[in-house]
Amino acid sequence: METIGIIGYGSMADMMVQKWLEKEVLNAHQIMIHTRSETDRLLQLKDRHQEINICSLNELSACDVLFICVPPLAVLDVLDQLPSAAKSVHTVSVAAAVTLDKLSKHTTQPISRYIPTLTSAVGTGVSLVAHGETAGEEEKARLHRLLSAFSIVREIEEDQFDAASNLTSSSPGFIAALFEEMAKAAVRNSELSLEEAYEFLTYALLGTGQVLVERGLTFAETVDRVATKGGITGEGAEVIQKQAPQMFDDLYTQTMKKYEQLKSQINEADKHH
Ligand SMILES: NC(=O)c1ccc[n+]([C@@H]2O[C@H](COP(=O)([O-])OP(=O)(O)OC[C@H]3O[C@@H](n4cnc5c(N)ncnc54)[C@H](OP(=O)(O)O)[C@@H]3O)[C@@H](O)[C@H]2O)c1
Repeated sequence: METIGIIGYGSMADMMVQKWLEKEVLNAHQIMIHTRSETDRLLQLKDRHQEINICSLNELSACDVLFICVPPLAVLDVLDQLPSAAKSVHTVSVAAAVTLDKLSKHTTQPISRYIPTLTSAVGTGVSLVAHGETAGEEEKARLHRLLSAFSIVREIEEDQFDAASNLTSSSPGFIAALFEEMAKAAVRNSELSLEEAYEFLTYALLGTGQVLVERGLTFAETVDRVATKGGITGEGAEVIQKQAPQMFDDLYTQTMKKYEQLKSQINEADKHH
């Protein structure tokens, strides 16, 4: 029976473990977790699922696949600390900005990258995946199966990871920021309360997502369905079509700059290893 190892137990690791247990993809005794500190999150998990194995780094050598769920600047350090017996374990880094090339300089293990999304906590969202050259077909298939439990899995070229992460992983934050502004605009321009605006928009978002997925509509088709020619929605959609391209270009410029900064920091830290 396969065993899944995890290093670091923050919000992403918790999301993955909770979904695997909830969907009965894994039993608790198949999960091994190593952390540097015993957090409340970890203790609560252990309380609910006593068969989960909180283990040492050495014990992780017994895993079939090992997820590294620590911040980007800690990933290479963690790889360096892995016991040599773990060197054949398929290792999956969930960190932003730590490239396969960087990872492969710190381990001979088969490696993959996986960019999770918060929306997988409700069983949806796209998991981005890229594999190192040494990852075999069996390993790729197992990772795909594990991530399919709570997401749609898409393998893409690694050089598109940052741009795509904006759409899969950061987008819930961007969408929330955008609709917060729409709610505030409603309050500024009417007698509606913020609570009403939040509720109305939240259900509009949920419904729009369902229409897009279940009816297979494109964004443009959805605009057309709601915005009849010369109508009121069309007027509003035009304002967005005029002003949003610049805003979203700026969003891309800023986030790509941030990815590059993070990569430079990782390179710098790596030089001092
Ligand atoms: N959050 C997202 O939506 C998201 C999306 C895509 C990718 N990611 C990636 O997922 C990874 C984890 O993110 P998260 O949101 O789960 O973070 P998090 O909630 O902050 O958890 C980070 C975990 O890493 C541990 N850790 C921190 N520094 C460490 C170190 N130097 N050595 C060993 N362990 C260390 C922490 O342990 P302590 O409790 O002891 O500090 C904690 O268990 C990051 O690399 C991030 O880039 C996150």
